[in-house]
Amino acid sequence: MKKLWDKGYDINEEIARFTVGRDRELDLYLAKHDVLGSMAHITMLESVGLLEKNELDALLRELRNIYAEAEAGRFEIEEGIEDVHSQVELMLTRRLGDMGKKIHSGRSRNDQVLVDLKLYTREQIRLVAEDVRVLFEELQGQSERYKDVLMPGYTHLQVAMPSSFGLWFGAYAEGLVDDLMLLQAAYRITNRNPLGSAAGYGSSFPLNRQMTTDLLGFDSMDYNVVYAQMGRGKTERNVAFALAGIAGTLSKLAFDACLFNSQNFAFVTLPKECTTGSSIMPHKKNPDVFELTRAECNKLQALPNQITLIMNNLPSGYFRDLQIIKEVFLPAFAELRDCLQMAAYIIRKIQVNEHILDDSRYDLMFSVEEVNRLTTEGMPFRDAYRKVGMDIEAGQFQPCKEVHHTHEGSVGNLCTAQISALMQQVWDGFGFERALSAERNLLKG
Ligand code: ARG
Repeated sequence: MKKLWDKGYDINEEIARFTVGRDRELDLYLAKHDVLGSMAHITMLESVGLLEKNELDALLRELRNIYAEAEAGRFEIEEGIEDVHSQVELMLTRRLGDMGKKIHSGRSRNDQVLVDLKLYTREQIRLVAEDVRVLFEELQGQSERYKDVLMPGYTHLQVAMPSSFGLWFGAYAEGLVDDLMLLQAAYRITNRNPLGSAAGYGSSFPLNRQMTTDLLGFDSMDYNVVYAQMGRGKTERNVAFALAGIAGTLSKLAFDACLFNSQNFAFVTLPKECTTGSSIMPHKKNPDVFELTRAECNKLQALPNQITLIMNNLPSGYFRDLQIIKEVFLPAFAELRDCLQMAAYIIRKIQVNEHILDDSRYDLMFSVEEVNRLTTEGMPFRDAYRKVGMDIEAGQFQPCKEVHHTHEGSVGNLCTAQISALMQQVWDGFGFERALSAERNLLKG
């Protein structure tokens, strides 16, 4: 195996296999971003006199070709090549000769993989946020559509008080707004430039780090080069916490949906094309989609912990341990997005039972309404509570199924518009356009 760090002696093949690990597969996630990072780096190298203008132009042209190959899914890490960084340099050297070997001045694979991860992560955060937004809109739509349809609310899984489908759907919508706030904090942390930290201690070349920061559309740089390197693993862990937040909301939604879809509840029905059958029981229409969503999202909630444990107690400076984080981190975005897209699809099609409350087993959930009615008529609350309690015990409670909840966020006043405004405010705070336009500019040449 030919290495970037070849110094004239061969490395044991088994050691090479073990240390490369799954990089040849996982680094494919980073290919486009590796190319973008190199484009910014060499543009800066030319500006400080470390590359000729004609070399820069030729290298940029070829890097754009490699980017296009990666985008079309045609980028491969060849057998015998260690990682994406080696592959890109090899392609440039094959196509352009010695100038391909000049791009690595003032850089290490340590800051190269750092910047790749930052660029990958900020793109993936944007895609996750977009999927969250789609699910949010579906939930808000259903919340408004069914705002007048009551359902039982539970505490301890015991029938408690009147709730509504408006509240149920809307609760998850509002939950996603909070989740996006945390995702935005993770985005802010991610969107800072580590390039120029090299192996973790900077370089004696007069690098212009502000220039690569601007070219790549980062909000700022990770200034201290030692800290920039410490960001490896820490960024992933912080982002993983934000992904886990979204996964937690989805997992709860999935469990509600499974429960409410059961014949014993029958509050909602999944459209039949969204269910799965049994090989033995001909009547089955199972909610496997939500069961898998629940498990996948529970798994994703372990991600911050997994990352923490992989990098636990490492001192400052680069360690190869960090490579392993890619195995759990890089695929997590697609896993979460798959669940988000499935949930949005099914929430759009879910059917709601508008007649749940015809069943007398839910009558007692109106007990508090009756207590409150007596209280407004002047009876002290504690006496009213006692009277209704005694009526229930004596089997004489007659529910009035009209509910009058008026305060903010209640059955009768969902505050859908306010929740949408909050979402819009969070959305605008991301400022994805800056990163997107920087990348477009680099690519258009
Ligand atoms: N595959 C490595 C990683 O993900 C790239 C950096 C290699 N650097 C090194 N010093 N061995 O961390």
